[in-house]
Amino acid sequence: GDEMTMVDFGEFRSSLFGRDVNYIRDLNYHLKDFKFMDGDILLCSYPKSGTTWTFEILTMLLNGSANVSVPSKINTMLEATCSEEIDQLCSAPRLLNTHLPYRRIPSDLCNKKVKIVFVVRNPKDTAVSFYNMISAFKHYNYSGKFENWLPLFCNGGLAYDTYMKYLKDWDTIWSSKKHDMTVLYFEDLKQDTLSGVQQLIKFLNIQLDEEIQQQIADKCQFKEMKSRYTPQMLGSSSYKEGTPYSFMRKGEVGNWKEWFTVAQSESMDRLVDEQLKNTKFKLVYEL
Ligand code: A3P
Repeated sequence: GDEMTMVDFGEFRSSLFGRDVNYIRDLNYHLKDFKFMDGDILLCSYPKSGTTWTFEILTMLLNGSANVSVPSKINTMLEATCSEEIDQLCSAPRLLNTHLPYRRIPSDLCNKKVKIVFVVRNPKDTAVSFYNMISAFKHYNYSGKFENWLPLFCNGGLAYDTYMKYLKDWDTIWSSKKHDMTVLYFEDLKQDTLSGVQQLIKFLNIQLDEEIQQQIADKCQFKEMKSRYTPQMLGSSSYKEGTPYSFMRKGEVGNWKEWFTVAQSESMDRLVDEQLKNTKFKLVYEL
């Protein structure tokens, strides 16, 4: 049947990306004294919208080279670590990252000069990518069908708000101009990686030879990254038996067309129209 087949919602919710509202509340307690530093760079993105890709580029830019081994972003993810750990790991400028909704980010953000890189990906590809990730990892214990996943993605039940709410709230922050913030689109990065690299260079006020800019863009193409991010890297025992998943799954714009029915697609279009009207982020569904 087509019934919801989420085996253990409790387990699912307690896992890293499925953390629920209570978890985020606890987390806020744990993060409430977190101190930012002037010069911090904070990468903000919804899960599966291009975090790893952007983190990779930013790490290379900050090191001025395409030949660096990029550390796991989990070490500097606000909600997955603590400030002492970050203090030990990072030298200035610190590259931090988070999937938290704006209101959950430690309030010290407003007292410091922090540069925010915000990543946007169209919600259909994001939904598909998210579905594939939680279906592949053992600890999510999720074996639902895509059609049953979509309502969760659209209506809530996941940590980090629904993607629409997440985008809407961040759009308000962007419009308010109260932070030094640049918006990077997954789809632009896919179409022209070098331009995305240059957008970040300009935003961060970095000087870098054109040759190195090109090397970074090349090194961050999907195929290259896929060969670096093997399933083993995340611990192959984390994956369900026989699941051919890697953090680098397809890396496409428009893969959603292989997953959404016409009705599902139209329904999401309506939701986006309703919930994101008057927002400025551009949503690009195909190239
Ligand atoms: P898919 O599942 O659609 O392939 P995040 O890092 O936020 O979890 O996002 C993961 C998504 O970004 C995955 O999408 C992954 O393949 C894609 N991605 C990562 N690096 C990429 C790259 N260099 N080029 C294109 N897509 C990339």
